[in-house]
Amino acid sequence: MPLNTKALSPRIGSEIVASKEELLKGGLAEEVRELLEQRGVLLFRGLNLSDEEQYAFAQTLGEVIDQGFKGIYKITLDPKLNDTADYLQATIHWHVDGAQDTVPTRASLLTARVLSQVGGQTEFANTYAAYDDLPPEKKALADRLKVIHSQEYIQRAMHANPTEEQLARWREHSEQVHPMVWTHRSGRKSLLLGLTAGLIEGKDEAQSRVILDEMQKWATQSQFVYRHEWTVGDLIIWDNTGVMHRVEPYPADSGRLLSRTTLVGEEPIA
Ligand code: OGA
Ligand code: MN
Repeated sequence: MPLNTKALSPRIGSEIVASKEELLKGGLAEEVRELLEQRGVLLFRGLNLSDEEQYAFAQTLGEVIDQGFKGIYKITLDPKLNDTADYLQATIHWHVDGAQDTVPTRASLLTARVLSQVGGQTEFANTYAAYDDLPPEKKALADRLKVIHSQEYIQRAMHANPTEEQLARWREHSEQVHPMVWTHRSGRKSLLLGLTAGLIEGKDEAQSRVILDEMQKWATQSQFVYRHEWTVGDLIIWDNTGVMHRVEPYPADSGRLLSRTTLVGEEPIA
């Protein structure tokens, strides 16, 4: 049965209208996965899955990461609800989850539980579209570059003047060198940028920053971006291999809470 879908914007995002029951049966999973790869973001407005149902739905789409409690990781800045909450403060910057690893996660599902009065909208940028639309000379440049991604760059964004001790701690995490252009098994190409990207191989910090900032600015232009204003119960799935995302800043004590379930990565960056 064909999916009932509607584009949210020309270059990124589709809304799917389907019942909970249909989705949980798994018969639409193949089509959902296919559309996710094509559109980057899928929205199921007001679907209102419980945590158990979200976990079950995620399992129809791929292998689920054992994170949080029964596959549900709480997205909140409240340390009483999530003891790694302070890590999530960096999510206000554009990023790809796990770009500092070799195999980033495949996709994540987010259901909104409690909203913030201010901020908390999530933005997604289609990095396939951003690559496709680069002018030829910039495409050729991006095709040549290798970028160092690390935990250190995430932390630097949050702590402008780190102590030697902080630096040493961050540097315990391994770093990864990735091509700026990810050539996927499908043959499609996407730009791999975001907060984890700090240095370009063969260039100094200042030269790297100029190029990275320019590419980042390009990739997050409005035509590549879908911004979601949440309503409680909305479910969003994003393709973490072809999308960057960030959240608009919200107060740590706002109560904002989303349930996240993440699918295991299936493809190393190449
Ligand atoms: C994430 C993330 C953004 C948000 O869950 O990986 O970056 O809107 N979330 O909270
Ligand atoms: Mn994230």
